[in-house]
This record gives sequence, structure tokens and C-alpha cells, in this order.
Amino acid sequence: MNAVFPGSFDPITSGHMDVLTRAARIFDHVTVTVMHNARKQGRHLFTLNERLEILREATAHFPNVSVDTFGGLLVDYMARQETGSVIVRGLRAVSDYEYELQIAHLNRQIGDAETVFIMAATRWSFVSSSMVREIASYGGNVSEMVPRASASALRRKHADVYEEREAELQAQTTGS
Ligand code: PNS
Repeated sequence: MNAVFPGSFDPITSGHMDVLTRAARIFDHVTVTVMHNARKQGRHLFTLNERLEILREATAHFPNVSVDTFGGLLVDYMARQETGSVIVRGLRAVSDYEYELQIAHLNRQIGDAETVFIMAATRWSFVSSSMVREIASYGGNVSEMVPRASASALRRKHADVYEEREAELQAQTTGS
């Protein structure tokens, strides 16, 4: 059985990676698909191509994972998949559940698409792409919270902020 793991992935976090790792053990093939979230319109840090590039790098070690993108409805994308394919969504905490339950029911109602929830490990319960973006925008250390590909991309995106912060920290430790 195949699965589709849709999301904004701006950028992919360690929580996403944890859910993907679990999904890749359960399903024959998992497609990680970057899609539009109308609620996040115009608020992305990374372009679609950058997000795809990060995802390709972060998932290269999985033999049964591929990366894709689709600009329409998730149910229309699911209709193009092999029969029986399911949507995988990760749950971090109970607070995710209400929104995810609504979307899962809607996707079943409008497109007969089935959703399977995978619980991320509790250590990632506080990690979100938005928090990671915020920490990185101030030059903070996010290396534990994201795969290496995301950390490098965040560093490149905020190179000036990171350089400034590192210089400040260096000055503090040398006392100058
Ligand atoms: O990572 P996200 O932002 O929580 O992912 C949400 C996403 C992109 C999976 C969702 O917004 C989506 O399915 N978008 C495609 C358009 C769609 O089908 N919308 C109807 C269900 S919200």
C-alpha cells in the first residue's frame, strides 16, 4: 500500500522526519508532496523550489520515499495515485487533532480519501516549522529541530543574522 504525506514543509522539521520514518516503515512507498495551504498564502520563507530541494536532500536516504508537488486539491492528487493509497498526517499533540480531524472528514466527504494519522515522538511535540523559522530569523540554533538540509538552508537564508550573532557570541567569550 502507498501513502502520500502532504504539507507545506517550510521547511521540513525533525517532527516531519520522524513521521516520515515511521510511515516509510509501514507503507511500500511514501510520496512527500508539497502543497498549498490557503491559510499560509504569501507567508512562506522558502520558495516552492527551495522546499522541494530541501526535501529531496533530507529524504535521499529513504529507498521508498519520493518528493512531489501539486497545486490543487489534495483529493484530486489522491485520485491520481494508485488505488488504495492513503493520506498520512502527523499528530504532535491533542491540539493538532481537532483541525486534522476536520480536514480528514472533509477529504473523505469530497474525495473519498482516507487519512491515517501517525503520532510523532513526544520529543518533537513542541517543534513546528513556524517556530523553527522564528528562531532561525534571530540566528538561533535549530540544528536539533530540523534535518541538516533544512538547517543549512536556514543558515543560507539568514546568513547575515547568523554571522552577526556569532560575532557577538565570539566577542562575549573573548571579552572584547
Ligand atoms: O503542512 P500543512 O500546512 O499543515 O499542510 C496542509 C496541507 C497543505 C496538506 C493542506 O492545506 C492541503 O491539503 N492543501 C491542499 C488544498 C486542499 O486540498 N485543501 C482542502 C483541505 S484543507
